[in-house]
Amino acid sequence: MAVMRIGRAELRVLDLEESVKYYTEVIGLDEVGRSDGKVYFKAWDEFDHHSLILQEADSPRLDHLAFKVENEEDLSKFEKKIEQFECTLKRISKRTRLAEGEAIRFELPTGHHVELYYDILRVGSKTGSLNPPPWPDGLRGIAPHRLDHLALTGEDINTVTRFFTEVLGMFVSEQITTVDGEEMVGSFIFASNGKPHDVAFIKGPDKKLHHAAFYVDNWYDVLKAADILSKNNVSFDVTPTRHGITRGQTTYFFDPSGNRNEAFASGYITYPDFPTVTWTEDKIGQGIFYHRRELTESFAKALT
Ligand SMILES: [Fe+2]
Repeated sequence: MAVMRIGRAELRVLDLEESVKYYTEVIGLDEVGRSDGKVYFKAWDEFDHHSLILQEADSPRLDHLAFKVENEEDLSKFEKKIEQFECTLKRISKRTRLAEGEAIRFELPTGHHVELYYDILRVGSKTGSLNPPPWPDGLRGIAPHRLDHLALTGEDINTVTRFFTEVLGMFVSEQITTVDGEEMVGSFIFASNGKPHDVAFIKGPDKKLHHAAFYVDNWYDVLKAADILSKNNVSFDVTPTRHGITRGQTTYFFDPSGNRNEAFASGYITYPDFPTVTWTEDKIGQGIFYHRRELTESFAKALT
Protein backbone atom coordinates (compact mmCIF):
# COMPACT_ATOMS: atom_id res chain seq x y z
CA MET A 1 0.00 0.00 0.00
CA ALA A 2 1.68 3.17 -1.13
CA VAL A 3 1.02 6.63 -2.42
CA MET A 4 3.05 6.82 -5.63
CA ARG A 5 2.97 10.51 -6.45
CA ILE A 6 0.91 13.63 -6.90
CA GLY A 7 -1.18 13.05 -10.01
CA ARG A 8 -3.43 16.02 -10.61
CA ALA A 9 -4.72 19.35 -9.47
CA GLU A 10 -8.05 20.97 -10.24
CA LEU A 11 -8.05 24.77 -10.25
CA ARG A 12 -10.78 27.37 -10.43
CA VAL A 13 -10.10 30.26 -12.79
CA LEU A 14 -11.87 33.51 -13.67
CA ASP A 15 -11.98 33.47 -17.46
CA LEU A 16 -11.84 29.91 -18.78
CA GLU A 17 -10.79 30.64 -22.37
CA GLU A 18 -8.09 33.12 -21.30
CA SER A 19 -6.76 30.46 -18.91
CA VAL A 20 -6.87 27.72 -21.56
CA LYS A 21 -4.79 29.96 -23.83
CA TYR A 22 -2.25 30.58 -21.03
CA TYR A 23 -1.92 26.93 -19.95
CA THR A 24 -1.58 25.71 -23.54
CA GLU A 25 0.49 28.45 -25.17
CA VAL A 26 2.60 29.82 -22.30
CA ILE A 27 2.92 26.82 -19.97
CA GLY A 28 2.74 24.51 -22.99
CA LEU A 29 0.36 21.81 -21.78
CA ASP A 30 -1.88 19.93 -24.21
CA GLU A 31 -5.64 20.26 -23.96
CA VAL A 32 -6.90 16.66 -23.88
CA GLY A 33 -10.63 17.01 -23.35
CA ARG A 34 -13.66 19.03 -22.25
CA SER A 35 -16.69 17.91 -20.28
CA ASP A 36 -19.24 19.55 -17.96
CA GLY A 37 -17.53 22.94 -18.15
CA LYS A 38 -14.12 21.50 -17.25
CA VAL A 39 -11.04 21.54 -19.45
CA TYR A 40 -8.41 18.80 -19.04
CA PHE A 41 -4.67 19.10 -19.75
CA LYS A 42 -1.55 16.99 -19.69
CA ALA A 43 2.18 17.70 -20.03
CA TRP A 44 4.06 16.01 -22.88
CA ASP A 45 6.00 13.61 -20.66
CA GLU A 46 3.01 12.45 -18.62
CA PHE A 47 1.38 9.17 -19.62
CA ASP A 48 -1.95 9.40 -17.80
CA HIS A 49 -4.88 11.17 -19.46
CA HIS A 50 -4.56 14.45 -17.55
CA SER A 51 -2.86 16.17 -14.64
CA LEU A 52 -4.58 19.56 -14.60
CA ILE A 53 -8.27 20.44 -14.72
CA LEU A 54 -9.65 23.97 -15.00
CA GLN A 55 -13.16 25.21 -14.38
CA GLU A 56 -14.50 28.76 -14.42
CA ALA A 57 -15.64 30.31 -11.12
CA ASP A 58 -16.12 33.69 -9.43
CA SER A 59 -12.80 33.45 -7.62
CA PRO A 60 -9.53 31.62 -8.32
CA ARG A 61 -8.71 28.70 -5.99
CA LEU A 62 -7.78 25.07 -5.68
CA ASP A 63 -10.66 22.61 -5.94
CA HIS A 64 -8.55 19.59 -5.02
CA LEU A 65 -5.21 17.89 -5.44
CA ALA A 66 -4.95 14.15 -5.97
CA PHE A 67 -2.39 11.44 -5.33
CA LYS A 68 -2.15 8.23 -7.30
CA VAL A 69 -2.06 4.93 -5.41
CA GLU A 70 -1.23 1.51 -6.83
CA ASN A 71 -4.54 -0.37 -6.90
CA GLU A 72 -8.16 -0.72 -5.83
CA GLU A 73 -7.28 -2.37 -2.49
CA ASP A 74 -5.20 0.67 -1.58
CA LEU A 75 -8.31 2.85 -1.78
CA SER A 76 -10.16 0.72 0.80
CA LYS A 77 -7.13 0.48 3.09
CA PHE A 78 -6.49 4.21 2.99
CA GLU A 79 -10.22 4.88 3.41
CA LYS A 80 -10.17 3.12 6.81
CA LYS A 81 -7.02 4.88 7.97
CA ILE A 82 -8.32 8.30 6.89
CA GLU A 83 -11.61 7.75 8.72
CA GLN A 84 -9.67 6.73 11.86
CA PHE A 85 -7.93 10.14 11.66
CA GLU A 86 -11.47 11.60 11.71
CA CYS A 87 -11.32 13.32 8.33
CA THR A 88 -14.57 13.74 6.40
CA LEU A 89 -14.46 11.31 3.47
CA LYS A 90 -16.60 10.23 0.53
CA ARG A 91 -16.33 7.97 -2.51
CA ILE A 92 -16.18 9.56 -5.95
CA SER A 93 -17.76 7.27 -8.51
CA LYS A 94 -16.28 6.22 -11.82
CA ARG A 95 -16.56 8.77 -14.65
CA THR A 96 -17.45 11.67 -12.34
CA ARG A 97 -14.70 13.32 -14.36
CA LEU A 98 -13.35 12.50 -17.79
CA ALA A 99 -11.20 9.34 -18.05
CA GLU A 100 -11.16 8.76 -14.29
CA GLY A 101 -12.25 5.72 -12.29
CA GLU A 102 -13.28 5.53 -8.66
CA ALA A 103 -11.58 7.74 -6.08
CA ILE A 104 -11.87 8.71 -2.44
CA ARG A 105 -12.14 12.38 -1.51
CA PHE A 106 -11.45 13.76 1.93
CA GLU A 107 -10.70 16.97 3.76
CA LEU A 108 -7.28 17.59 5.30
CA PRO A 109 -6.89 19.17 8.75
CA THR A 110 -6.01 22.35 6.79
CA GLY A 111 -9.39 22.25 4.98
CA HIS A 112 -7.97 21.37 1.54
CA HIS A 113 -9.71 18.66 -0.46
CA VAL A 114 -7.58 15.72 -1.51
CA GLU A 115 -8.40 12.67 -3.59
CA LEU A 116 -6.69 9.30 -3.88
CA TYR A 117 -7.18 7.35 -7.11
CA TYR A 118 -5.60 4.52 -9.04
CA ASP A 119 -7.74 4.26 -12.16
CA ILE A 120 -7.20 6.75 -14.97
CA LEU A 121 -6.96 6.23 -18.71
CA ARG A 122 -3.35 5.72 -19.78
CA VAL A 123 -2.77 7.50 -23.05
CA GLY A 124 1.05 7.40 -23.12
CA SER A 125 3.53 10.25 -23.27
CA LYS A 126 4.16 12.20 -26.46
CA THR A 127 7.45 10.40 -27.07
CA GLY A 128 5.92 6.96 -26.55
CA SER A 129 7.58 4.01 -24.82
CA LEU A 130 9.33 2.29 -27.73
CA ASN A 131 12.75 3.63 -28.77
CA PRO A 132 11.67 7.15 -27.76
CA PRO A 133 13.44 10.39 -28.67
CA PRO A 134 14.43 12.58 -25.69
CA TRP A 135 11.66 15.06 -26.45
CA PRO A 136 8.87 15.31 -29.01
CA ASP A 137 8.58 17.72 -31.93
CA GLY A 138 6.22 20.68 -31.76
CA LEU A 139 6.64 21.75 -28.12
CA ARG A 140 5.16 25.12 -27.18
CA GLY A 141 5.89 27.54 -24.35
CA ILE A 142 7.68 26.33 -21.23
CA ALA A 143 6.73 22.71 -22.08
CA PRO A 144 7.35 21.18 -18.62
CA HIS A 145 7.73 17.43 -18.15
CA ARG A 146 4.99 17.18 -15.56
CA LEU A 147 2.95 18.71 -12.79
CA ASP A 148 5.55 18.46 -10.03
CA HIS A 149 4.12 19.59 -6.68
CA LEU A 150 1.65 21.87 -4.96
CA ALA A 151 2.33 24.19 -2.02
CA LEU A 152 -0.57 24.95 0.31
CA THR A 153 -1.03 27.02 3.44
CA GLY A 154 -2.61 26.02 6.74
CA GLU A 155 -2.81 26.93 10.41
CA ASP A 156 -1.66 23.61 11.89
CA ILE A 157 1.38 22.30 10.02
CA ASN A 158 2.20 19.69 12.68
CA THR A 159 -1.14 17.92 12.35
CA VAL A 160 -1.36 18.01 8.55
CA THR A 161 2.22 16.68 8.33
CA ARG A 162 1.33 13.90 10.78
CA PHE A 163 -1.62 13.04 8.52
CA PHE A 164 0.65 12.65 5.49
CA THR A 165 3.27 10.57 7.32
CA GLU A 166 1.08 8.44 9.61
CA VAL A 167 -1.99 7.96 7.40
CA LEU A 168 -0.67 8.22 3.85
CA GLY A 169 2.80 6.80 4.62
CA MET A 170 4.62 9.70 2.98
CA PHE A 171 7.92 11.23 4.11
CA VAL A 172 9.20 14.66 5.19
CA SER A 173 12.27 15.85 3.28
CA GLU A 174 12.53 19.24 5.00
CA GLN A 175 10.79 21.20 7.73
CA ILE A 176 10.81 24.80 8.88
CA THR A 177 10.47 25.23 12.64
CA THR A 178 10.33 28.13 15.07
CA VAL A 179 13.81 28.99 16.38
CA ASP A 180 13.11 27.10 19.63
CA GLY A 181 12.11 24.06 17.58
CA GLU A 182 8.71 23.88 19.30
CA GLU A 183 6.44 24.44 16.30
CA MET A 184 6.59 23.32 12.69
CA VAL A 185 5.80 26.24 10.35
CA GLY A 186 6.61 24.52 7.07
CA SER A 187 6.94 20.96 5.78
CA PHE A 188 7.97 19.42 2.47
CA ILE A 189 6.49 15.99 1.85
CA PHE A 190 7.31 13.29 -0.70
CA ALA A 191 5.90 9.91 -1.68
CA SER A 192 8.35 7.04 -2.21
CA ASN A 193 9.40 8.26 -5.65
CA GLY A 194 12.68 10.12 -5.17
CA LYS A 195 11.35 13.67 -5.62
CA PRO A 196 12.21 16.30 -2.99
CA HIS A 197 8.49 17.05 -2.58
CA ASP A 198 5.05 16.19 -3.94
CA VAL A 199 3.29 18.63 -1.65
CA ALA A 200 4.42 21.35 0.76
CA PHE A 201 2.69 23.21 3.58
CA ILE A 202 3.54 26.68 4.83
CA LYS A 203 1.94 28.30 7.86
CA GLY A 204 -0.86 30.63 6.81
CA PRO A 205 -4.62 30.65 6.38
CA ASP A 206 -6.35 27.29 5.91
CA LYS A 207 -7.68 26.10 2.51
CA LYS A 208 -5.37 28.29 0.42
CA LEU A 209 -3.16 27.48 -2.55
CA HIS A 210 0.33 28.98 -2.51
CA HIS A 211 1.44 27.60 -5.87
CA ALA A 212 1.26 24.81 -8.41
CA ALA A 213 4.66 23.83 -9.82
CA PHE A 214 5.65 22.33 -13.16
CA TYR A 215 8.92 20.49 -13.67
CA VAL A 216 11.63 21.53 -16.12
CA ASP A 217 15.06 19.93 -16.36
CA ASN A 218 17.65 22.40 -15.22
CA TRP A 219 18.77 25.96 -14.48
CA TYR A 220 18.91 26.91 -18.16
CA ASP A 221 15.31 25.75 -18.63
CA VAL A 222 14.21 27.92 -15.68
CA LEU A 223 15.93 30.89 -17.34
CA LYS A 224 14.28 30.05 -20.65
CA ALA A 225 10.91 29.71 -18.89
CA ALA A 226 11.39 33.24 -17.54
CA ASP A 227 12.21 34.46 -21.07
CA ILE A 228 8.97 32.92 -22.34
CA LEU A 229 6.99 34.46 -19.47
CA SER A 230 8.40 37.94 -20.10
CA LYS A 231 7.83 37.61 -23.85
CA ASN A 232 4.16 36.88 -23.05
CA ASN A 233 3.89 39.69 -20.46
CA VAL A 234 3.07 37.23 -17.68
CA SER A 235 3.15 38.74 -14.20
CA PHE A 236 6.23 37.55 -12.22
CA ASP A 237 6.32 36.98 -8.50
CA VAL A 238 10.00 35.93 -8.33
CA THR A 239 12.50 35.88 -11.20
CA PRO A 240 14.89 32.89 -11.50
CA THR A 241 16.80 31.93 -8.37
CA ARG A 242 17.82 28.98 -6.19
CA HIS A 243 15.91 27.38 -3.32
CA GLY A 244 17.88 26.45 -0.21
CA ILE A 245 15.09 23.99 0.59
CA THR A 246 15.18 21.13 -1.99
CA ARG A 247 18.21 22.85 -3.71
CA GLY A 248 15.89 23.32 -6.68
CA GLN A 249 15.95 26.19 -9.16
CA THR A 250 12.84 28.26 -9.56
CA THR A 251 10.84 31.11 -10.96
CA TYR A 252 7.37 32.10 -9.71
CA PHE A 253 4.63 33.80 -11.69
CA PHE A 254 0.85 34.16 -11.82
CA ASP A 255 -1.72 32.63 -14.14
CA PRO A 256 -4.31 35.08 -15.56
CA SER A 257 -6.57 34.52 -12.51
CA GLY A 258 -3.83 35.07 -9.91
CA ASN A 259 -3.09 31.42 -9.09
CA ARG A 260 0.68 31.29 -8.52
CA ASN A 261 2.65 28.90 -10.74
CA GLU A 262 6.27 27.82 -10.51
CA ALA A 263 8.74 26.42 -13.01
CA PHE A 264 10.84 24.16 -10.79
CA ALA A 265 14.01 22.30 -11.78
CA SER A 266 16.42 19.81 -10.31
CA GLY A 267 16.39 19.35 -6.54
CA TYR A 268 18.00 16.35 -4.90
CA ILE A 269 16.85 12.72 -4.89
CA THR A 270 15.09 11.36 -1.81
CA TYR A 271 14.66 7.86 -0.37
CA PRO A 272 12.34 6.56 2.36
CA ASP A 273 15.28 6.76 4.81
CA PHE A 274 16.17 10.36 3.82
CA PRO A 275 17.05 12.33 6.97
CA THR A 276 14.70 15.31 7.38
CA VAL A 277 16.50 18.64 6.94
CA THR A 278 15.50 21.41 9.35
CA TRP A 279 15.50 25.16 8.70
CA THR A 280 14.80 27.49 11.59
CA GLU A 281 12.31 30.26 10.98
CA ASP A 282 15.00 32.98 11.26
CA LYS A 283 16.63 31.45 8.14
CA ILE A 284 13.40 31.00 6.16
CA GLY A 285 14.45 33.74 3.69
CA GLN A 286 17.60 31.82 2.79
CA GLY A 287 15.72 28.51 2.81
CA ILE A 288 13.26 29.72 0.22
CA PHE A 289 15.37 32.19 -1.79
CA TYR A 290 19.00 31.23 -1.29
CA HIS A 291 20.48 34.37 -2.86
CA ARG A 292 18.07 37.14 -1.85
CA ARG A 293 17.80 35.66 1.70
CA GLU A 294 14.46 37.30 2.44
CA LEU A 295 10.85 36.67 1.48
CA THR A 296 9.04 39.22 -0.61
CA GLU A 297 5.72 40.54 0.64
CA SER A 298 3.85 39.16 -2.36
CA PHE A 299 5.39 35.69 -1.93
CA ALA A 300 4.18 35.56 1.67
CA LYS A 301 0.76 37.11 1.08
CA ALA A 302 -0.58 36.36 -2.41
CA LEU A 303 -2.71 33.23 -2.01
CA THR A 304 -5.72 31.88 -3.87
FE1 LIG B 1 7.48 24.97 -5.13
